[in-house]
Amino acid sequence: TSTYVPYKVKDIALAEWGRKEIKLAEAEMPGLMALRAEYGPSKPLQGARIAGCLHMTIQTAVLIETLVELGADVTWSSCNIFSTQDHAAAAIAAAGIPVYAWKGMNEEEFNWCIEQTLFFGEDRQPLNMILDDGGDLTNMVFDDYPELIQGIRGLSEETTTGVHRLYERMKNGTLHLPAINVNDSVTKSKFDNKYGCRESLVDAIRRATDLMLAGKVAVVAGYGDVGKGSAESLRGAGCRVLVTEIDPICALQAAMDGFEVLPMDEAVHRAQIFVTATGNVGIIKERHFEAMRDKAIVCNIGHFDNEIDMAWLNGKYGQTKSQIKPQVDMYEINGKEIIILAEGRLVNLGCAMGHPSFVMSCSFSNQTLAQLELWANADKYENKVYVLPKILDEKVASLHLAHVGAKLESLAQDQADYIGVSVQGPFKSEMYRY
Ligand code: NAI
Repeated sequence: TSTYVPYKVKDIALAEWGRKEIKLAEAEMPGLMALRAEYGPSKPLQGARIAGCLHMTIQTAVLIETLVELGADVTWSSCNIFSTQDHAAAAIAAAGIPVYAWKGMNEEEFNWCIEQTLFFGEDRQPLNMILDDGGDLTNMVFDDYPELIQGIRGLSEETTTGVHRLYERMKNGTLHLPAINVNDSVTKSKFDNKYGCRESLVDAIRRATDLMLAGKVAVVAGYGDVGKGSAESLRGAGCRVLVTEIDPICALQAAMDGFEVLPMDEAVHRAQIFVTATGNVGIIKERHFEAMRDKAIVCNIGHFDNEIDMAWLNGKYGQTKSQIKPQVDMYEINGKEIIILAEGRLVNLGCAMGHPSFVMSCSFSNQTLAQLELWANADKYENKVYVLPKILDEKVASLHLAHVGAKLESLAQDQADYIGVSVQGPFKSEMYRY
């Protein structure tokens, strides 16, 4: 166990600014505020020591303080070297919550930060809950600190890529804890991944490049939830958008949403803006880079930086790299200048402020419910991956309706009987796809 470091952030003097923005975010996060009102008084997370590894943003600060208000002790690190908002981290540190995160750390510091979150306080009590985004904290515990597993009740995982890793572990027999897949709550992946990226992708490209987007040709690789939001984001800005896909269903969806679908080898000659959104590896590599036009902009909105072959780019053309500003670099490939955003890491958190608060309130309400459930009922679960019951998914949605002025129709008993549901919900079968 490491020695106790109370926190490590870029600049604690940013705390006051962070606190002002946290207050504004709270007003846009009705789900989390409702959970505070419902569970704050009874403190159901008393005794929980939650280590979290998730982009240390203003929105995450509201999640952290919700968990604290529900009775938990919390430690925090960010799951990406560029995604921390330093004023958010400072405000959390100033509130006395151990946070280890700053924007622009290196890989070694990244691991150091996660490691700090495993033990709590001067007396170095080990964590007993995991809240993860992408699986780096989970992997560290399982692979490097297996002795801690027995004291942990469960874990909740935020994103598609982290969830993939959990299902793989379940298949291989190396999942050592009950896990809740938060991503596949409908009110997470069909909202954050889609509507979140619809707002934050173009925001990132604009902040990074100040480029006129209208009239440009952009290509989005992958038409899953993130790809759908990303393609719509670019279309909304006036781009002509191309889509690449391997899955015929998603390819057909893209075509019927009005996008041209074609392989990257063809798109590469036409596009000026490249966005990867697959959660897969090697989407943009050597031959694509070599075929790109001058001043092409290349970025990734998936979880890890291997969607773009940055290793090849840095190996072969690293000496041509020149920084335009932090998280915006230019490389010269065969006489053409190529602009890479956020070093190939997720661009909306590297070059902009991530998703807006309102949509993150949906995601983080699911996170909070997952933590509550695992802390209270871990013994009911096996070492498998679960999703939250649909009734809770519907609850998360209903907590967000009033804020956008949406009023529900009420379902009459005879109508409920006719379609075979209860008047209280759930309103859909498990098979329904939204
Ligand atoms: P998804 O599974 O819904 O979509 C991925 C799509 O990529 C699928 O339709 C798949 O068929 C396609 N694909 C796979 N290999 C491909 C290839 N070689 N060429 C073209 N298409 C290919 O996953 P989702 O939820 O859209 O997430 C994508 C990534 O974004 C994940 O890494 C996830 O963790 C991350 N994510 C990032 C967020 C952000 O704010 N930046 C928010 C939510 C998720």
